[in-house]
Order: sequence, then structure tokens, then C-alpha cells
Amino acid sequence: MERQIHIEPVTRIEGHGKITVFLDDKGDVRDAQFHVTELRGFEQFCVGRTMWEMPGLTARICGICPVSHILASAKACDAILAVRIPETARLLRRLMSLAQLVQSHALSFFYLSAPDFLLGWDSDPALRNVVGLVAANPDLARKGIRLRAFGQEAIDRLGGKRVHPAWAVPGGVNRALSEEDRAWMIAGLPEARATVQETLTLFKSSFGDPKERGVLGEYASLYMGLVGRDGVWEHYEGVLRIVDAKGHVVCEHDPARYAEIIQEASEPWSYLKFPYYVPKGYPDGMYRVGPLGRVNACDRFDTPLAQAELEEFRGRSGGRSGRVFDYHYARLIEALAALEEMAELLADDRITSPAIRAEAGVNAREGVGVHEAPRGTLIHHYWVDKDGIIEKLNLIVSTGHNNLAMNRAIREIAKAHIHKGKVSEGILNRIEGGIRAYDPCLSCSVHAVGQMPLVLNIVNASGELETTLSRD
Ligand code: MG
Ligand code: NI
Repeated sequence: MERQIHIEPVTRIEGHGKITVFLDDKGDVRDAQFHVTELRGFEQFCVGRTMWEMPGLTARICGICPVSHILASAKACDAILAVRIPETARLLRRLMSLAQLVQSHALSFFYLSAPDFLLGWDSDPALRNVVGLVAANPDLARKGIRLRAFGQEAIDRLGGKRVHPAWAVPGGVNRALSEEDRAWMIAGLPEARATVQETLTLFKSSFGDPKERGVLGEYASLYMGLVGRDGVWEHYEGVLRIVDAKGHVVCEHDPARYAEIIQEASEPWSYLKFPYYVPKGYPDGMYRVGPLGRVNACDRFDTPLAQAELEEFRGRSGGRSGRVFDYHYARLIEALAALEEMAELLADDRITSPAIRAEAGVNAREGVGVHEAPRGTLIHHYWVDKDGIIEKLNLIVSTGHNNLAMNRAIREIAKAHIHKGKVSEGILNRIEGGIRAYDPCLSCSVHAVGQMPLVLNIVNASGELETTLSRD
């Protein structure tokens, strides 16, 4: 008899999701689906608004990553104005992007995921959170909390306010950086960098063994991320590069023409679409974005500490890594790269120039903005009329790109923990851990917010509930 196992909703990820595991007649895993079940329709909602509102408006898609939407949106609007933004505005937007990377990676690593591997995959779920982390390793927890706070305050000082800062605008930014705020950021960098380096050392010594690294699944895929000149790791500009599992470049593409290489498939069981790499078709064109996607896609970092870490990472992985767990490793390397580049930007005296905005009207009827959000490539694509009123828009959010890959991770983990109808202890923790490694923002993908406790339902083929497992 076929059985279905439902896990709903997933805790400690941003938003709301549900999982169904399908068993075959032997009780082994046939398939797994990660259902994303809510939709608010932001793409429809923005039609008829003026492009000038779009950065501030799309920032409201998500309370978790407003900064990423603002940057992608402002870039799409720059393209409609057909301007080259002032160099200081470009440097400030890069600085904002990096501060967001630091705070978001710190949140993902220390608050959401570290409890799993520091406290153990089978530890009590009630303690497997940042509070448990504080009890188990107060020094690390304190440093992680301070790291995130540093990134958040840097965003505050750049944007003027933390939540939904309407700061990046078409043509540049609307607020110059003061010398006082510049000095504050420079002063905070050494501690932040030391925290990331210490955490990397701990991570490599404690979690470097293949057994631990394999616990969330391992599989080949394509990887995508923006890269700059000579394949250098990027987060704000450059070309879209896709590499294969061995790191060979499959394509490098103008981000404005993303639609030639990326299309979105739909499945009836999820509102979240399934982007795929067009030449390979659906679903073979699965690719991964985010920390592991970018770190695998690039040839190098152009800052020394991150570059040394990349070389070690590639050495340990024997090249590119396909392990889901290595999202955490890549996340720490990126946090280090972000802090190094922040130091470079802040050392540049142009950073406090008041020349921060290019003024122009509507000069193009279409604009694409592509930016690397912490969780992966974010695409905003607008079509406007001659007055700049939005006629149509397409958003492809970071979590969407990883949709196929997250489903694959869940299937891999389920296969490792379900045999002949027997579900082993700890499957819930590991499935959650697999999803969390991707750091999905379901607020962005489904435009809805909410967290609830975890429930596992086992349902037989005729739809009858066999068992319900709950953790509270
Ligand atoms: Mg879309
Ligand atoms: Ni988001």
C-alpha cells in the first residue's frame, strides 16, 4: 500500500511550508514534495503603480530581505532611466549589499542553523534554537548576535532606518554617508571579521568530516551566480554565470537577457514556481543559487582572506562541492569576503561624496535589475509606459531558483531515513536542516509571513490519517 507522510509546517525557516513524502508499495521513498502554499500576488499588485515607487513598494514584499529587493528594483529602474549612476552611489549600494549579506548570513548561521550542528541533530527541539545555543556555547552565541547586530546597524546608518529603507532610488541613492557613520563602520569591522574567522575555524575542525557534511544530502547540479571580470565572486553587478558540477563554465550571460537561459515551470502542488536552465530542459536544468551557488560558480575572490578560504574549501571538496551542508561553509566564506570588501569600500574617500544621484526621465520601456541577495540571485524585470507606469513585471526570487534543489534535498534525506515503512528518529530534524541550509525566504517566495510548530502526518493511499507526530 502506498503511504504519504506529511510534515507541516517547517519551523525556523522564514515563512510557511509543508512537506509530503510518498512511499512506494514496499514502504520506501518514491518521491518528496515541498509545498509552498500561500500566495499574495505581488506581481499583479504593482501593475499601474509608477516606477519611482517600485524600490519602496517591492521592499514590502518581505520583512526579511527588503534591502535585496530595494537594490534589484533600483537597478531595474536605472535601466529604464538609461543612466550610469554616480560612482559614489555605486559604492554605497555595494556597501549596503555587503552589510545585508553579513546580517543575513549571521542570522541564518547562528540563529537558525548552528543549533542543529552544535547541539546535535537529535537534541531536544525545544532547546535546538538560539536560546539553547546561548546555554551551550555562550561565547559563540554572543559573538554571532553581535555580528548580526553590526550588519543591521550598518544598514541603519546607510539607509536611515532598518525596515524597508527607501534609500536606493532610480539613478542612485538618496542619502550620503556621513564621516561619523563611516568611522563607526570602520571601527566595527575587526571584531566582526574575527568572529567569522573564529567560526570558520570551529566549523572546519568540528564539521569537516565527510559523514557530518553528507548528512543533508549530496548531489550534482548546475550552480549559478553573478561573477565579475575574470570570474571573480560578485554580489551586485557582473554577468550571470552557470557552471556544471565540475566547475566548467556552461554559460555566461547578460543579466538583462536572463529569460533566454532561465524559464519557470509550474507544478499543481506548489505556488512557488520552478525555474530551470532552458538548454537542459525541465527538470534536468536544476541549478543552485545562494552561497554554495556563488562560491561554486566563481573562479576566485579578490580579497585575500576569502580567497585563502576558497582554496581550502576546494581542496577539502576535491573541486566543487555538491553537499547541501556546505551551504553553511560557503556562507561563512562569503561573510568574510563581505567584511573584507566593506573595509576596502570604507577606505575609499569617494564613499562620502555628496554626488549620489543621476536625474533622468523615462528613456527605456523595459528594465532588468539582477542582484545577488544573501539567499541567491534576485531578478526584477519591469515594463513601463512612456510615463513610467508599470504595465507588467516579473520577479524571480532567490528561493525560487533553489526550488528544484530543495525538493531534491528533501528526497535524499527521506530516502536515508525511511526504509520498508519504518521512519527513523531524527528525520524531521534533518529534513528541516536540509531546507534551512538553503536559507529559503518563503516570505519572498509566497509573499506571506508566519511560523508554526512542526507536525508530521502519515497518511495512507486512501487518504486516511495513520499517525500524527507532533513535537509540542
Ligand atoms: Mg515571476
Ligand atoms: Ni525575503
